Amino acid sequence: MTNHTQQSHVGVIGLGVMGKNLALNIADNGYHVAVFDLDTPKVNAAVAQEEIERKADTAPRMQSCNNLTEMLAKLVEPRVIVLSVPAGAPVDGVCKSLIEAGIEANDIVIDTGNSLWTDTVEREARYKGQFIFFSSAVSGGEVGARFGPSLMPSGDEKAWRYVEPIWKAIAAKVDSTTGLPIERFEPGNPVTEGEPCTTYIGPAGSGHYVKMVHNGIEYADMQLICEAYQLLSDGLGMSAHDIGDIFNAWNKGILNSYLMGISAEVLQQADPLTGKPLVEMILDKAGQKGTGLWTAVSSLQIGCPAPTIAEAVYARAVSTQKNLRMQLSSKLAGPEPVILSESDKAEFITNLEDALYCAKVCCYAQGFQLMAMAAKEQSWTLDFAEIAKIWRAGCIIRATFLQSITQAYQEDANLANLLMADTFSQTLSQKHFNWRKTVAASVMQGIPAPCISSAIAYYDSYRCEMLPANLLQGQRDFFGSHTFERTDKPAGEKYHLDWSAKERTLSKV
Ligand code: 6PG
Repeated sequence: MTNHTQQSHVGVIGLGVMGKNLALNIADNGYHVAVFDLDTPKVNAAVAQEEIERKADTAPRMQSCNNLTEMLAKLVEPRVIVLSVPAGAPVDGVCKSLIEAGIEANDIVIDTGNSLWTDTVEREARYKGQFIFFSSAVSGGEVGARFGPSLMPSGDEKAWRYVEPIWKAIAAKVDSTTGLPIERFEPGNPVTEGEPCTTYIGPAGSGHYVKMVHNGIEYADMQLICEAYQLLSDGLGMSAHDIGDIFNAWNKGILNSYLMGISAEVLQQADPLTGKPLVEMILDKAGQKGTGLWTAVSSLQIGCPAPTIAEAVYARAVSTQKNLRMQLSSKLAGPEPVILSESDKAEFITNLEDALYCAKVCCYAQGFQLMAMAAKEQSWTLDFAEIAKIWRAGCIIRATFLQSITQAYQEDANLANLLMADTFSQTLSQKHFNWRKTVAASVMQGIPAPCISSAIAYYDSYRCEMLPANLLQGQRDFFGSHTFERTDKPAGEKYHLDWSAKERTLSKV
């Protein structure tokens, strides 16, 4: 192994998939990196990888550390230390060890995990004076971390200014005129042109909140695609490979996204063991680490409707109850399969494409409205055009459609809901009938489509000037004297009807 004598610019602690690839990305962009993991073979593997990938005429840019004291000694001051450890207790465990190793007040520790945003708020306060606890959520998985992720930094602004050049260098890039990703997956040849997918999000916790909502949208977007797969497979009897072809075709249009592309690839992958489509050999029980759930919980707490995101979390929960589903599959009645003509099949596919697009717009509308309501509650100033911009490349929900969201917020930074933007209201108004036909077909054929259908209920609820909450308020007043406002009196004036009296009288409360 080559000797490394220069002080490093960045320390990376935790060399799992994300940490190792972030370290390689930082090194690829010309920074020297000191790396540490409790698991020594991981340290050796990262350094060896850097050596393999580095051009022969360049000096080594990665050095291993045996412990945190050694890492602190190898870093230029103020030190920048990237944490890539599992969210929760491990983050505080490393922070404690860094304090014991002698970290200093001006040093910056950046948590890049999927931490719960409230933990980040607490940590910034807890470690004040000992070091600067900064955070930067990262999206993009293994390839993103290596060649350009979307980065959502938040916390101390001075710390941000210090790490900004590094963050801009390692982030994914987009072409500023088209809004499309500039991708090059070549070690030693990082993308240096284009707009970097990172922006300062705001005070501590805000970056992790934004990443949490990104993941909530990710859950919903993934579930929508899965529902389309089931509708095509159970509804039309199509093979996984042919569904992959349809997804590839959709991926050339308004549904173009990273998730659509990988779904087609997954569907067309053969199982190395049986030769069957791999997807048919994968057990239908979805895992989750919690960020989608946190988004749904936050939406309930804040009172922001995000039913499609919540349905996506429930869909994963139902999927895990495989035994119960197997028992009920032969117990509960459903419709007989419907055989469609070729022209009806073609119409079904066109309707589904429109349904998917409309439901997708609703998921994003829910996520962005949730961020807006959270920002108000937390007194954060979030720039939604910038957030949409940094999701155009690098992250899991990257999609051409994010350019339209960017433009919608550039035109009106205070948009109450994406459905208010002309570009989306017009397209949904034009496509809603096909969306309805898809939902109706799913119900009539007994194929569950919880996200596609919850989204249409969301759309229709917002279309209603009048909802049945008048009756609901009447019910509440009836059994609990909870009072109601009247349509013909000033807002805030409360009334109660004496429901139990013989002569029901109205009183102003
Ligand atoms: C990303 C992903 C990544 C991970 C999530 C979701 O943006 O790169 O969101 O953070 O995939 O943790 O994982 P689960 O589906 O396991 O909850």
